[in-house]
Amino acid sequence: MPLQKNPLFKNVRWKRLVRLFHYFRPDIYRVRGELILALMCTLGAILAALARPWPIKIVFDYALIPKHHLRWALPFDLAKGYGAMGVASVSCVLLLVIALVGGLFAYYQSYLIAAAGQRLTFAVRRRYFAHLQRLSLSVHNSHRAGDLVLRATGDTNMLREMLVDSVLIILSEVLVVFGMLGVMFVMDWQLTAASLAVLPLMTLTAFRFSHQLREAVRLQRQRDGRMAALLSEVLHAIIVVQAFGRQAHEDARFGDFNKRSLKQGMRAVRLEAGLERVVEVLVSIGTAGVIWFGVRRVLQGYLTPGDLLVFIGYLGSTYKPLRRIARLTTRLSKATVSGERVAQILAIQERVRERKNARPAPPFRGAVTFNEVEFHYQKDVPVLRRVTFHAEPGQLVGLVGANGAGKSTLLGLIPRLYDPIEGGVEIDGVNVKRFTLESLREQIGIVLQQPILFGTTIRENIAYGKPDATIDEVEAAARAADIHEFVLSLPHGYDTVVAEGGVSLSGGQRQKIAIARAIIKNPPILILDEPTTALDAAAAAEVNATLHRLGRGKTVFRVAHRLEDVAVADVILVLRDGEILEQGTHAELLRAGGWYQWISTLQRERTPVPAADPIRVAGGSRS
Ligand SMILES: Nc1ncnc2c1ncn2[C@@H]1O[C@H](COP(=O)(O)OP(=O)(O)O)[C@@H](O)[C@H]1O
Ligand SMILES: [Mg+2]
Repeated sequence: MPLQKNPLFKNVRWKRLVRLFHYFRPDIYRVRGELILALMCTLGAILAALARPWPIKIVFDYALIPKHHLRWALPFDLAKGYGAMGVASVSCVLLLVIALVGGLFAYYQSYLIAAAGQRLTFAVRRRYFAHLQRLSLSVHNSHRAGDLVLRATGDTNMLREMLVDSVLIILSEVLVVFGMLGVMFVMDWQLTAASLAVLPLMTLTAFRFSHQLREAVRLQRQRDGRMAALLSEVLHAIIVVQAFGRQAHEDARFGDFNKRSLKQGMRAVRLEAGLERVVEVLVSIGTAGVIWFGVRRVLQGYLTPGDLLVFIGYLGSTYKPLRRIARLTTRLSKATVSGERVAQILAIQERVRERKNARPAPPFRGAVTFNEVEFHYQKDVPVLRRVTFHAEPGQLVGLVGANGAGKSTLLGLIPRLYDPIEGGVEIDGVNVKRFTLESLREQIGIVLQQPILFGTTIRENIAYGKPDATIDEVEAAARAADIHEFVLSLPHGYDTVVAEGGVSLSGGQRQKIAIARAIIKNPPILILDEPTTALDAAAAAEVNATLHRLGRGKTVFRVAHRLEDVAVADVILVLRDGEILEQGTHAELLRAGGWYQWISTLQRERTPVPAADPIRVAGGSRS
């Protein structure tokens, strides 16, 4: 019976398994040494398993009942040479040697398989993490972080089980079964045939259970993923959860997934246990049949009593591997689900990809052109429509527009965090896709609304974009970002660790560190996406002054909600629903009497203090 058709293996999806193996081939190849050794040990263990019942046969046929007609006679009559006790002694020694050698082989087999599994997990995790980090933001935005984490930790473990533990052990069990059946067949094929009578029944049972089991496992894994996602969401937003007193609500949400995971888990356990019991009963029926037929065969003179013992011994150990195969195949099907979850992420083909013939970008002058750029995250939901504009080197480009208008998306297209669906983005007249990603991105500095710092030293945080930066370069960047004096005032200076047990900084200080990080490479293009929105008025004014000074000689894109922040811009783009509604200078747009002028009036009306005080104005008009 071909493997695919055998219902015992029905709960494993062979095609998908083979595809998975194909997928993880490079990782498996790394552990080939261990795998080959493990296979050799497996063969040794199998031979030992085959030899195990033979000493008892020898005792029976040569020492206890020597008058029997011996079909499997040894070269000489042992009993004559050594006497009955001599035969017994030889058998005992044989028994011990078989146990010892078999044990050694089995030990190294499991050790090597486990070692290969660990190294495989290691390799897959490394590849997964490397891949994950390089996936574009559109992919990250559409997957929940918690689920991605679970895939990296939990699912890679299951994958090890599948690729190494289950498959190798199943293979060795299959070989044991076939080896024993082979020997049995040679000894007495009729009795062998009779003893296999329960096999079809056994496979049918396994088939019945397997489908439901697979479904239960899949559902449980899915719930686990959602649970992990919820967990990481709540932990991220823990301040909101606590401040709003919503712990009970989150308990309930978590409990719901948890309960459903439990339910499917219980179902799987029940099914597995049920399957094992049924197999046990069938094994007993098989053994009973063999004893009944076997005794007749012995009485008829086809077999010696020792042969029958070998038979029963084999049968006991044939059914055990079969039972283990049944159990392992369920694990295999669980692991297939996990493997696919990992492969799914690894298989994501990027839209943002470096071209084969991409070349390092020359030092940019900083002219940026958008030509009829169209972009969407999901089909049929356009985010940018026919965006066309041009910025000369050294210009300040302001971007204003309501939340969700597409400002951040538009700026993300310049360093290729995303790629346009239609149209093109050019720097100095060359499409950005023609450059290598590294050479493109290292010439573009980015400051975001929320300064994201790593839990390490200030020095490392600033040098993040230039790991080989000297301390002088780090200090120069800090000085340019007006944060040097402050850093020096800290107890450990540049070696002060930020956040997580380290010093806590104010929003303005964090933002200035982020600015130092963005400019340490002196990029000709600077992207400032609402860099002061999260700051108080005084800090915002300070950061604004810093940015204003730093922006000289660079092409700067500045998203702002306060129009004052971009009033001096060479060109201001007003975005609405992904379209450039108006563009021009502050004065031109005010004269035009459109959206810009309307917002300008609104912001001035809301201002409770005289417009003469720029810091106060900035604070008052924040929304
Ligand atoms: N990762 C994403 N997946 C799907 N839609 C997104 C994603 N990011 C932003 N959007 C949508 O694209 C539009 C523009 O978003 P964004 O560029 O962030 O606007 P802005 O920066 O002007 O506030 C919004 O409608 C937003 O909902
Ligand atoms: Mg934005």
